[in-house]
Amino acid sequence: MTSILNAIFGAKKPSEQNILHVDMHSHLLAAIDDGVGSLEESFEIIRKFRELGYKKIITTPHIMSDFYRNTPEIIQKKLKDLQDFLDSKAFYFPVEAAAEYYVDEAFLEMLRNKQPILSFGKEKYILFETGFMNPPPFIEEAIFLMQTEGYKPIFAHPERYIYLYDNFSMLERMIEMGICLQINLLSLTGYYSREAKKMAEKLIDANLVDFAASDCHSLKHFEALKESTKTSYYKKLIQKDLLNNTLM
Ligand SMILES: [Fe+2]
Repeated sequence: MTSILNAIFGAKKPSEQNILHVDMHSHLLAAIDDGVGSLEESFEIIRKFRELGYKKIITTPHIMSDFYRNTPEIIQKKLKDLQDFLDSKAFYFPVEAAAEYYVDEAFLEMLRNKQPILSFGKEKYILFETGFMNPPPFIEEAIFLMQTEGYKPIFAHPERYIYLYDNFSMLERMIEMGICLQINLLSLTGYYSREAKKMAEKLIDANLVDFAASDCHSLKHFEALKESTKTSYYKKLIQKDLLNNTLM
């Protein structure tokens, strides 16, 4: 029956097949990190997200003491600028902001001093990342501190960390501590590297992925995101119980 309907009305559009309604990792606030450069570019990308079937974006600028000294105030101000810009275009789409925290000494201090941390969702999720080559020696302390303060840590793109490729048990320990994992959809196409693709597939096969996100920095990334939805592992991934849509 479906094939007859498809023959009459055409196959389902990609937006109808997409079950990810919330993207929770991207860099879409203008000129605040290595993400988009202008409000026009943000608008263009968000428009494309909506076309793909997304219903909400939680964008996450970097906070990293060496390069991106963003604060909750700066991020909230930039979010307001974006929302005003979307309103001015009569484009109504929910965009929220949190951050992607780089685990460094400054982040530890913020936690120790109980400074405000940008989180999202009812679970108070914090998105965090580390350097790609080496883990910080205090990674487990940082996880413990986040949890002690009532947050739920989400490890951004675990498939991209070179230090985990020959030390999977380190990731297993972090999972045992209770963190969530978020993979980048672009990894499924081999966009970053063959190793990152292999690791993402391994995590999907092992049912260890909690969230899947774009980590979109630019229009170029968005085009690669569309490609990722054509991969066999994307189809596998969206059959899993991902938590993205709990953030609606
Ligand atoms: Fe990111």
